[in-house]
Amino acid sequence: MTVPLDLFPDTVRITVGNTLSIGGCDLVDLAERFGTPLYIYDAATIVARAGTYREALRASYPGTATVCYAAKAYVAPWLLKIVAGESLGLDVVSAGELHVAAASGFPMARTYFHGNNKSEDDLAYALEQKIGRIVIDNQDEIARLGLLAAARKITQPVLLRLAPGVEVHTHAHLTTGAPDTKFGLDIASGAALEGVRAILAHPSLELRGFHAHIGSQIRDMRPYRESVERIFAFAAQARDTFGFVMRELSPGGGYAVRYVPSDTDAKGADMVREVAAAVVAGAKKHGFELPEITIEPGRSIVAPAGVALYRVGSVKRGERTYVAVDGGMADNIRPTAYAAEYTAALANRPSDKSDITEVAIAGKYCETGDILIQKVSLPLPRPGDLVAIPVSGAYQLSMASNYNMALRPAVVVVGDGAARLVRRRETYDQLLAMEGAG
Ligand SMILES: Cc1ncc(COP(=O)(O)O)c(C=O)c1O
Repeated sequence: MTVPLDLFPDTVRITVGNTLSIGGCDLVDLAERFGTPLYIYDAATIVARAGTYREALRASYPGTATVCYAAKAYVAPWLLKIVAGESLGLDVVSAGELHVAAASGFPMARTYFHGNNKSEDDLAYALEQKIGRIVIDNQDEIARLGLLAAARKITQPVLLRLAPGVEVHTHAHLTTGAPDTKFGLDIASGAALEGVRAILAHPSLELRGFHAHIGSQIRDMRPYRESVERIFAFAAQARDTFGFVMRELSPGGGYAVRYVPSDTDAKGADMVREVAAAVVAGAKKHGFELPEITIEPGRSIVAPAGVALYRVGSVKRGERTYVAVDGGMADNIRPTAYAAEYTAALANRPSDKSDITEVAIAGKYCETGDILIQKVSLPLPRPGDLVAIPVSGAYQLSMASNYNMALRPAVVVVGDGAARLVRRRETYDQLLAMEGAG
């Protein structure tokens, strides 16, 4: 088994001492300094991914276009600083994410607020923060937001989320644009047109255009093209019916990344170029000026930048060889929730060729389903070895829990040979901090 270096962050190296390093930092040293489980982000990989999207969009779309990072993949002040520095916008899906963005000084004008059930408090907070766009999901939200904006005597720019009725081939939990979905208003049934009517009737809401996000981990361009075409056809219908002209269009995110060597390569920049071409074609076909577009990649910007580092505690040989590590489903729910696949390398002896064995990497939590990797070939691990799992930067820490009263891991950002602790490991006292006296 060769070490899948191409799945690790751009700066990964095997050192002369046969250890893995990222951003010039030896993972064995990082484990000693900060403990395990440890999440390591390579700043250079994030900057490179963000820049690739920004430049691909700039080169392929003749109109105004912004890359909005989808905070749900992972959000923290240090990350938002990079995102803002790369001139990206931001997509948040909760008042909590919005709060982190506001507290980090992220430009609110470039922030979009999504979500299928924003409460009055959520919306009031967004208005208070003078958020750039609210992406309305449903009729109830139109009424709620209309009243709140009117009471504040402001006109809030909004997009309407459409359910375009496009099927995508990904995990069922990752599709969001199919006819049966909890997100957005359905075009086919006429619900979306009614949504436009209701927004236009509110003087405090300014409808700028439409949004659709069809799912995540998508490799195939066909559903994006179909979605963009359906949005334009719908926009033409809205123009014919109400005289409303779409000026903004957000075709979502969802570009796939490779998690294991057998995954086919997914080139985000190519996908962006195709989305841009689909918008240009749609505008021409339906007689619109080029709308301002925003794309919203989350996973594909941060997933490849992150590595999860665990210490092996026990190796149990039997029908299968179970290598138990000191983390698992509490810091990475994806294998349990979506049957997500990963690969791994031993960070303290990546090039070791001895005793290569197929093993399962088991988490430490009290669930049979807590298996991080079902099958991976490694030099037979021993207690004390370090297991490094690449492509761990998205939807892991953001979904992390205190299951079994686990402490959420520490996070370090590496670059130019330096490691910065950006999130401390939780403590046992913190587990009790929110509890009453009993
Ligand atoms: C509205 C919206 N935009 C963008 C994204 C980002 O998707 P991904 O991280 O797969 O790029 C999501 C994720 O589900 C989403 O719901």
